[in-house]
Amino acid sequence: MTLLDGYNTAKKLNHELKLEIDKWKGLKKPTLAIIHIGNNAASLSYIKGKISAAEKVGIETKLIHLKDQISQKEVEDNILILNNDPQIDGIILQLPIPKHLNKDRLIDLISIDKDADGFHTFHQGLLYQSRETMVPATPLGIMLLLETYNIKLNGLKAVVIGRSNIVGSPVSRLLQDAGATVTICHSKTKDISAYTKDADIVVAAVGIPKFLKADMVKKDVIIVDVGINKVEGKLIGDVDFEHVSKIASYMTPVPKGVGPMTIHALLKNTVKLYVNTMKKRNSI
Ligand code: GUN
Repeated sequence: MTLLDGYNTAKKLNHELKLEIDKWKGLKKPTLAIIHIGNNAASLSYIKGKISAAEKVGIETKLIHLKDQISQKEVEDNILILNNDPQIDGIILQLPIPKHLNKDRLIDLISIDKDADGFHTFHQGLLYQSRETMVPATPLGIMLLLETYNIKLNGLKAVVIGRSNIVGSPVSRLLQDAGATVTICHSKTKDISAYTKDADIVVAAVGIPKFLKADMVKKDVIIVDVGINKVEGKLIGDVDFEHVSKIASYMTPVPKGVGPMTIHALLKNTVKLYVNTMKKRNSI
């Protein structure tokens, strides 16, 4: 089994991104704004990871931390300020956000020219037409990892477990665009093994620790594990790594698999937005 090493792949790709950013010395630095509402511990740790990776490659970050009980209007005002701030190239709203807020409305208020997560309806619409767009970070990171290992998806049977707007749905579309025949399963799928056993590649993004077991996959399957479940203080994926790794041909570990690739993709998206904006201003 070959380990799909997201940690070292992201390190290499982040270094390449840094070299690109270094070319613009003397100009305004690419800048990512992160809106964090409340005190979700997991979000806090992801945000720290994003900020530290951004700093290493030369992307500035601006963290806007808003209190849990903030009103919809106040969050909207914050987004509008960032939309109109010429210093800011990318904006992300860290999810999840408190339930009293209208998430969809907030995401769609982010300027499409600054939507570093690619969550805006406009970008999702382009994605589902297989057109050039901002691709959400986790799906983009997964595709870059598979590309790095020269894994050809054309003609493969892919099963995606999970149907979220952040991972399951967009990664399904990207796999399909790459020539795979894709089946989307989820927590309600009956007899899920019937699908996963037939798959050449499984992307597990269901959020249930060790959901995918060795007897649910065929020999030489390619496994991408998106799960980050905290169990007794440890990070556990959606795949039973110990047993499935004995059957798989390629497999991502958890941690150090998809996670660092997600962060790389977010940085890459931020640079893409920066370049677009700077070109529009005739600055580069
Ligand atoms: N929460 C979990 N994953 C993500 C992500 O990729 N972007 C944002 N903004 N929030 C998340």
